[in-house]
Order: sequence, then structure tokens, then C-alpha cells
Amino acid sequence: MATPLDQIVYPGSDQYTAEELAAPGTIPIGLHGEPLVKVIDTAYIAFQVPDLQRQKAFLADFGMVAAQGEAQGDGASLYMRGYGTAPYIYVAHKGSEPGFLGAGFLLACEEDLQRVAQDTGRPMEALDGPGGGQRVRLRDPDGFFVDLIWGRQQVAPLPTRSEGLPVNLPGTKNRVNRALRTPLEPSPVQRFGHYVLMVSDFEASWRWYRSHLGLLPTDVQCTTSGHPVLAFCRLDRGELPSDHHTVVLASGPRATYMHSAYETVDQDAIVQGQQYLKQKGWRHFWGMGRHILGSQIFDYWLDPHGHEVEHYADGDVFDNTCPTQYHLMDRGGLWAWGDDVPAAMKPKPRFADIVKLVLGGGAKRKMLFEMKRAMDRAPRPWLK
Ligand SMILES: [Fe+2]
Repeated sequence: MATPLDQIVYPGSDQYTAEELAAPGTIPIGLHGEPLVKVIDTAYIAFQVPDLQRQKAFLADFGMVAAQGEAQGDGASLYMRGYGTAPYIYVAHKGSEPGFLGAGFLLACEEDLQRVAQDTGRPMEALDGPGGGQRVRLRDPDGFFVDLIWGRQQVAPLPTRSEGLPVNLPGTKNRVNRALRTPLEPSPVQRFGHYVLMVSDFEASWRWYRSHLGLLPTDVQCTTSGHPVLAFCRLDRGELPSDHHTVVLASGPRATYMHSAYETVDQDAIVQGQQYLKQKGWRHFWGMGRHILGSQIFDYWLDPHGHEVEHYADGDVFDNTCPTQYHLMDRGGLWAWGDDVPAAMKPKPRFADIVKLVLGGGAKRKMLFEMKRAMDRAPRPWLK
């Protein structure tokens, strides 16, 4: 016998009946027609930092490598690569205050670059850093840059472990007369995987990223009133699988960088890399654990300038046929196992944000209040 609607209980950090909330997905996230282009991969992420040498030391311990020709011009920029084929995946420019600047994405062909320039009125420019190429620099609704690039030369990958370790299972022994000794070393970063932004106008940002990059929403978390507030978006590469998320947009009182993530080999690489970073005295933030949406094994760190960065491995991938899934937003939905989300990960409203909310529209105020409630509920009572 079907459960009466008013008795349906939604699982999660708390329990709601159907009377208490709109089912996730009742307010769907829109696709807004065909995008201008569909980007095919990440290229790099960019920051401003006061101390390039300290940033470089951290990134080396985090598992990146100074890019060939990284000393550009007056030494005011730092280019770091991973072990994969991108000439660099991380760039930091020297500046008085630390901050996130933007990110770059690869286009499929030169015609796409020309189309972007023509349709946006933005110029094609030479790309800075190793590898050359061209870019069109756009600005998202909150002012962060998004470079769409073409023609960057790839480099030979660096040697590192790329295969999984042989695993002994109760019924299958893949290591006989062989011990497992994983080295204490930086977790080799393969590539720049994704970044998460808090955005000041969720609908405007989602429309912009969808229409300029062709993103697809993989999983969307909604408030109890049904509003989408956290979208995990992947690249549309047709039948080629894409990471569960490449850009994540989170509704909030203001625009800010939340974290960026870098793919490494597997769980052993993450944990040995964690030990290595701890030995070097860097600031650990959250992990190791496994996410629910995206399934990645994760480990979060704070760089010397306070930016959250994540090692991850074993994430989900989807082609463009998977429909969007909707979920009730709650803290427990962010991870499957591991320690609770650190309190510092929850955005702290500034005085100006509170003033803006008090003076602003009631709908956004209500939505942010629902989000706060969702993040405040302790999802695993046994974790202190
Ligand atoms: Fe992440």
C-alpha cells in the first residue's frame, strides 16, 4: 500500500514530512536553450597572493611541479603544473592581498574561440604562461574571469604511479608473496578538476555558466521550499564521460571562492600525501572522507594564503545522457564517511551581508535562512 503523501519522510540530517517541504525538483533548474560553446576540459585556476615563494613551497608539497618556463617576465607570476599533459594548471600573480581571480577552460576548436569573441565582443589575446595559445577573457556575473582558450601546447606527462594498487579481497588475492609499501611523498596532482564558488545571484550565475560554457547540472540541492541553491555542474562532452562536477555554484549572500580540487591517483596517494603535508607543517582542513554527490575520496587543505584546496580521487563520471538529480540540501548530503564538515567551511555572514539581507528581498532572505538551518543540523550525532 502506498504511503500517504502526508506521511512521507525524507531522510537526511533531519526528518521532514511532505507537508513540511516542497519535494526537491519541484522548482527545476533550467537549461535555457543551447549554449554559445561547450568547453571540453579545465585548463587552469588563477589566484593573487602576496608571497609567491611560500605559495610555491606549499604547492610543491601538495603535489604540483614548477612549470617549464614558470619564471615569467619580472618574476611576478608563478605557474605550476601537474603530472598530466597540461603545461600548467595553477597560476598565482603577486599582489598585496590574497584572492581568487578566475579559471580557464579548453575549447574544442579554433572556430569556437572565434565564435566566443564575435558573440561577446571580447578580444582574442595571447595566453600568458607556458604552452602559448589564445584566450578570450570573459567575466562572470560576480566579476571573476573565465578564460576560454584554444591552441595551448600540451607537454609530456611526468612519470608517476598511474595504476591502482593490487588489492587483496577475501575471495581474490592479487598480491601473493608481495607486501604493499606506499611511499611517504606528495600526492601527485594529475589535473585541476573543479572549483566551487559562492555566488551572489544563483539564477544569474547559473544562466551565465550554462550559456557560456555549456555546463550540465548533475546534482542539485534544494531548500525546503524547493529552490535550487547548490548545483554540481559537469561539462557536456557528448558521449565522452565528464567528472561529476567541474563548476559548483552555491547560493549565498555574496560572491566568494570556496575551494578548488585537484585529482590524484587513489586513496593511498591521498593519505600518504596527507602525512607528507602534515610533516611539513601545513594546515589540514577536512578529511579524509568520501563525498556523496560525486563519490570522490577527498582531503582538504588550507594554502598559506587561506584558500581551501582539495585532493580527490575515484570520482564519478557521467556522459551527457544522465538526467539531473535533485536532493534536499543538508550537511549530511555532503559526505558519506569521515569527519563532520568543519565549522570553518560554513560561510560566515559579514555585517554588510546581514544589512543587505535585512534591506533586501524576503524571498532570498527566506532561502538563505533555510540554507543556514540545513547546514546547522548535525548529521552524524556520534561525531563530536
Ligand atoms: Fe570539491
